Amino acid sequence: MTLLNVNDHRRRARRLLPRLVFDYLDGGAEDERCMQRNRDAFEALPLIPECLRDTRSMDIGIELFDRRWRAPFAVAPIGLAGLVRPRADALLARAARSAGVPFILSTASNTRIEEVRAAAPDAMLWMQLYVMGERAIAERIVRRARAAKFEALVLTVDVPVSGLRERDLRHGFRVPMRLTPGTLLDMACHPAWLLRQARGGAPQFVNLLPDDGAPVSAQAQAALLSRTMDRSLTWESLGWLRRLWDGPLLIKGLLGAQDALRALRHGADGIVVSNHGGRQLDAAPAAIAALPAILDAVEGRIPVLVDGGVRRGSDVVKALALGARAALVGRAPLFGLASGGEGGALAVLQTLAQEAERTMTLLGASHVDELGPRHVDRPEPRRRDEPATAAIHPARAAA
Ligand SMILES: Cc1cc2nc3c(=O)[nH]c(=O)nc-3n(C[C@H](O)[C@H](O)[C@H](O)COP(=O)(O)O)c2cc1C
Repeated sequence: MTLLNVNDHRRRARRLLPRLVFDYLDGGAEDERCMQRNRDAFEALPLIPECLRDTRSMDIGIELFDRRWRAPFAVAPIGLAGLVRPRADALLARAARSAGVPFILSTASNTRIEEVRAAAPDAMLWMQLYVMGERAIAERIVRRARAAKFEALVLTVDVPVSGLRERDLRHGFRVPMRLTPGTLLDMACHPAWLLRQARGGAPQFVNLLPDDGAPVSAQAQAALLSRTMDRSLTWESLGWLRRLWDGPLLIKGLLGAQDALRALRHGADGIVVSNHGGRQLDAAPAAIAALPAILDAVEGRIPVLVDGGVRRGSDVVKALALGARAALVGRAPLFGLASGGEGGALAVLQTLAQEAERTMTLLGASHVDELGPRHVDRPEPRRRDEPATAAIHPARAAA
């Protein structure tokens, strides 16, 4: 099978992974409308080229927090990636390093913070933080990330409770785990995956406790799997984090302009506009649709990143043309990892970069700074008192 694009890797991942694992990765919350909306919103944004422009000095790189990225996207945090492949987090960090982009390690990762750093010594590594009931766990994670020279902290705020992932429930993938006979049989039908998992051992949430090799308590594992978060966490709690972390602090999971302003007021250094890839609030808007209002509110004071539904380099270009500083890619590199290990993940990142470069060349933009809203054929937002036809055919409505 020729693997030309992210979708090809997804199809191969579907073949190579047991259904339970593929669905964990691929699925979203409830009716998966938000997940679909993420895709539809990108599809509904055609790009308008500017022709006959000199694009000989093509460069799709960006600079953020004093670091140069070779392409304008980073690898998003993915919890429990070890289900796809043992040491998944380390393999993804290495792939990101080879592609010249940052890798964000999830709190719910299955490779120790220090091991990920050792596997990719000169990678741009960021740490994602979930704050669970016991705040001391988060404090230890932040301290360890700092000691391991992680460069930015990303606080995820869209999981006060886990979204209802119905594909997982149907497979019996929940706390406590009750795998169906069909799921067990399916695993047996994927011997290469099974063998790797048998060799690597079942994935554990190894970053919850600091001591090397000590097993993580079943209670803490269950809390993370069911995403039992600290519901007393508020904007005021950012002060607590600030005292622990003096590097760049980003807030991930915002969709509203008012929240973006709150993040700004409470000292965030960046925002990731995100609906968690459609895995949390199924009624949430597409992240790319929520982006413009947030950019208007923030007025360039801090960088705004976006994720959710990026499957082509042109999606990244659309996000940048609207004003995002960078995009994150979540499932895409994981499909690559499932289809071909570290090399597969790298192939996906390289494909996205090549697609972004080709798209920008076709638009007549040789640097990301040359991208702007004029490149995006965005329908004007309709006023509440305006008939639907006015937005689509302004001339006709005026006549
Ligand atoms: C299987 C899976 C696990 C995820 N785990 C985390 C996580 O631990 N922390 C987090 O902040 N986001 C997590 N996310 C959300 C991603 O970081 C990202 O926001 C999302 O995947 C972007 O959408 P995309 O997959 O369409 O690119 C997860 C997403 C998936 C698909």
